[in-house]
Amino acid sequence: MSLKSHEINLDITPITETFGAIISGVKLSNQMSQDELNQIKSYWNRYQILLFRDQDLSKEDIIGFSRELGDLEIHIRNEWLNDSHPEILQISNINVDGKPIGALADGEVGWHYDQIYLKRPALGSLLCSVKIPPEGGCTYFADMTTAYERLPLELKATIDGRLGIQSYENFNNLYSTKTDENQTSLTQKITQPLVRTHPVTGRRALYLCPGMTVGITGIPDDESDAILQQLFDWCLQDDFVYKHNWRLGDALLWDNACTMHRREPFDSVHERLMFRTTILPQAERAVPF
Ligand code: SIN
Repeated sequence: MSLKSHEINLDITPITETFGAIISGVKLSNQMSQDELNQIKSYWNRYQILLFRDQDLSKEDIIGFSRELGDLEIHIRNEWLNDSHPEILQISNINVDGKPIGALADGEVGWHYDQIYLKRPALGSLLCSVKIPPEGGCTYFADMTTAYERLPLELKATIDGRLGIQSYENFNNLYSTKTDENQTSLTQKITQPLVRTHPVTGRRALYLCPGMTVGITGIPDDESDAILQQLFDWCLQDDFVYKHNWRLGDALLWDNACTMHRREPFDSVHERLMFRTTILPQAERAVPF
């Protein structure tokens, strides 16, 4: 073992019985050792969500660390990119000169997988708290691997080999704002397998979400609506869900191949600002399989 490995002292505290872990003893930055990065990657695969508390991250730190995990996406919602660092998507209810500086304002943001509507969906996201309200605005995550593994056999058989229809427009109509013409052309409805195999761990997870999955190919709408509802109800049982109550300085890294998330509303008198990077998979691992 190298000298540097001896120096690493990452403490892990699991969050729930099946997923999520708090990692302490590390400061995320753009200058981390390879040993630290390898260990974080392996915990990320194992726990799916990693929480780093008490971080004091510059934009360069956020981007530098994220880039070690994969290529970074410049999000198609260019109206909400950070001015000087477009790798950062701002999530915020703050307005400057009458214009929102970030996505998703202060309302409910329903359950979704980031970019399930793209052929090369994100591998993960890193969300860092910059300004948070005194209450509300918690982010919830669902462990879609365990939800799949414990799914009743009959329901597993029903969806085996099936494709879900994914719509970003549906999500925007419910929780965000409409895309412009160019953004719309890049985000037409597509299909993805309802069950995907994780590109690194090989574990299978449900790949569907109430905010964006609007149908199942080859099954009439009323029937597929009922199947999807059954699946959503199944995934959203308390056993599979973690609620994250933000503190300033939190950085939360999630695995977007096997967790979906939602954000609860908060009082609009308070400001909330989060910086998010979106991490892409290697091209050959892009299409879920
Ligand atoms: C997101 O869905 O990426 C944002 C979640 C949040 O605002 O907590």
